[in-house]
Amino acid sequence: MNQTIKIAPSVLSADFAQLGAEVQRVASAGAQQIHIDVMDGRFVPNITMGPLIVEAIRRVTDLPLDVHLMIVEPEKHLAAFAEAGATALTVHLETCPHLHRTLQQIRDLGLQAGVAINPHTPATHLSEILHMVDIVLVMTVNPGFGGQQFIAEMLPKIRAVRQMVGVRPVDIGVDGGIDATTAPQALKAGANVLIAGNAIFKHVDGMAAIQGAVEQYRRSRTI
Ligand code: DX5
Ligand code: ZN
Repeated sequence: MNQTIKIAPSVLSADFAQLGAEVQRVASAGAQQIHIDVMDGRFVPNITMGPLIVEAIRRVTDLPLDVHLMIVEPEKHLAAFAEAGATALTVHLETCPHLHRTLQQIRDLGLQAGVAINPHTPATHLSEILHMVDIVLVMTVNPGFGGQQFIAEMLPKIRAVRQMVGVRPVDIGVDGGIDATTAPQALKAGANVLIAGNAIFKHVDGMAAIQGAVEQYRRSRTI
């Protein structure tokens, strides 16, 4: 397994009054993609942003935009997010009774397709759908808010997903409570996309701290 490690700052924790500048700040600090959390007040308790914000962020960066849809009936909005400039659309397995069809719709739009699983959803629920996805997003908090604590019990699940993915070119993301301490744990378990909100946007040297932890992890692997 030799998957590229990517850092994806989650703009949920950015200063929305300065969104463009915040995105450019993390982009020039070396982020590989931008994570955008869409919440509807139904699947999750919080309401955040929609295609308008994706379109606005698209205008300030060329980085891939990784859109995490924490919404019911995501199939109704896929085209709007594609139109807005999303690169990847990740839907929650828990919101999609016809997940195969929804993933096919994302692919038909020419975008990368992702599936997110909540902490209570077993890795095995992915078995019949893995061939359809570019991204598996393992939630390491219950989705809805930034700044929550990493659920360490998810580490064996990350390991299980990595094993299931095998040699397929599938990114395994971790989302929730990722910081300089938890990032290496998630990498070691098999994740390769580190999504972080608070750890990056609420600290001036947030990107550097995560990058340092990644570097340290890399070095520990080559010793
Ligand atoms: C949580 C979101 C996350 C969130 C992560 O529901 O999906 O992307 O922004 O924030 P932190 O890194 O602060 O836990
Ligand atoms: Zn997210």
